[in-house]
Amino acid sequence: MPRPQLVVLSGAGISAESGIPTFRDADGLWEGHDIMEVASPQGWNANPELVLEFYNQRRKAALEASPNTGHKILASLEQYFEVTVITQNVDNLHESAGSTRVIHLHGELFKSRSTIDSSLVYPIDGWELKLGDLCKKGSQLRPHIVWFGEEVPMMEQATIICNSADILVVVGTSLIVYPAAGLLNFVNSQIPKYVINPNMPQIDPMPNLHLIHKGAGEGLTELKEILVKN
Ligand code: OAD
Repeated sequence: MPRPQLVVLSGAGISAESGIPTFRDADGLWEGHDIMEVASPQGWNANPELVLEFYNQRRKAALEASPNTGHKILASLEQYFEVTVITQNVDNLHESAGSTRVIHLHGELFKSRSTIDSSLVYPIDGWELKLGDLCKKGSQLRPHIVWFGEEVPMMEQATIICNSADILVVVGTSLIVYPAAGLLNFVNSQIPKYVINPNMPQIDPMPNLHLIHKGAGEGLTELKEILVKN
């Protein structure tokens, strides 16, 4: 018998317990930065050096961070379920914890891509991407991040996976940023849906919705007990 498909939508809150600030909490990542200056094509065109430095600092912080209990529990659920993690996070902590199927909706900190050919994507070794780092066609490399106003290329794959979910887990996201937040509407309305967040986002009523008002580590520990017992 095929194993149930467990789909996870994760956000910055799951990495908060590894010391990486979220975007919209009090000590949020944008603090001190205008979002459009560091996370939009316009910002990049106006001041690529500032944008590169912003992501270099994010990369440095991610290199110093380790996966926490929440990441590890999600990885351990692969013993029982076909788990796919759809993450809005650009760090690689799900992979470091051992999750094997991770879709990065908003790109990846440890990759760069060409500014003239988006199919040219390269790994970044270490923390620094600099002006003058070029793709094989000779154009500047940019962070492999989905910026505001840009398309979300992984969205189609994510909607297909949500469509086939038997269980949905939403953890550590404010559900403010679309199209990611809309993924809740792509799962079958009858499947169990668990939302883990100490500061619960507004969610329209739907069948089989379970709200766990806890941080990621504690909430996922509780969830694993529920899922594995059943
Ligand atoms: P947000 O910063 O919007 O939301 C973080 C969520 O995590 C909030 O709902 C918090 O209540 C929750 N949270 C805080 N601590 C937590 C903990 N210990 N355990 C569980 N949850 C906790 O981050 P995202 O929803 O991920 O996009 O933001 C979505 C996107 O907005 C990001 O991917 C980023 C940003 O623009 C890009 O950069 C393209």
